[in-house]
Amino acid sequence: FDTGQLSGKHVVITAGPTREALDPVRYISNHSSGKMGFALAQAAAEAGARVTLISGPVNLPTPPQCERIDVISADDMLQAAEHATSDCDVFIAAAAVADYRPANIAEQKIKKSGEHITLTLTKNPDIVATIAGQPTPPFCVGFAAETQHLGEHAQCKLQRKRLDMIVANDVSQPGIGFNSDDNAVSVFWPGGKQQLAQASKQQLARQLIQLMAERLSATQPQ
Ligand code: C5P
Repeated sequence: FDTGQLSGKHVVITAGPTREALDPVRYISNHSSGKMGFALAQAAAEAGARVTLISGPVNLPTPPQCERIDVISADDMLQAAEHATSDCDVFIAAAAVADYRPANIAEQKIKKSGEHITLTLTKNPDIVATIAGQPTPPFCVGFAAETQHLGEHAQCKLQRKRLDMIVANDVSQPGIGFNSDDNAVSVFWPGGKQQLAQASKQQLARQLIQLMAERLSATQPQ
């Protein structure tokens, strides 16, 4: 692992879940642990980058040398990402952003009433697509958790969200991915791909940061 390959670069990473409030005491969220994003932050800092880690609610210590910004909802995360990426070189979207949020946040606790209640949900903004769609975007990396047709779905997302790289993992396999310590991924970029075998999220993060540094210098020769 070549330390210093990201020196002078500013890397912004989103990690963890988002929480979408329903009322003052309830929310919609998911089981993301934030481990992959935090491991990437640590690996990027070890490679010499200045790191801004934008994190949803997780139970993890901040990696050394990283600036951490805590957020709750997807809207908060988008705002923090837009602000932090104004001067960044690489944006890595590792957060499991809630796709939808309750259309209205009730001011008071919703009372128990009939047998059924209906929740209306509104689509959240796509953070990585928003950043990648800016006039002069940073090098943008997304993640794709899929249960089938891994390669096709990941490559569609790469194009649709205008990403420079996408890291795909098969979440139907037990013991890797969501909320576990290990992962195994396939990485796609325009014109290339590489498979990274099952390893700890720390080891994979180092390999991913190395790949990103390589692609960054290939696409933006100094
Ligand atoms: O479309 P899908 O949710 O599968 O895309 C996953 C990728 O997009 C991840 O990199 C995730 O962090 C990012 N994403 C985002 N904002 C959203 C939804 C997903 O940045 N609202």
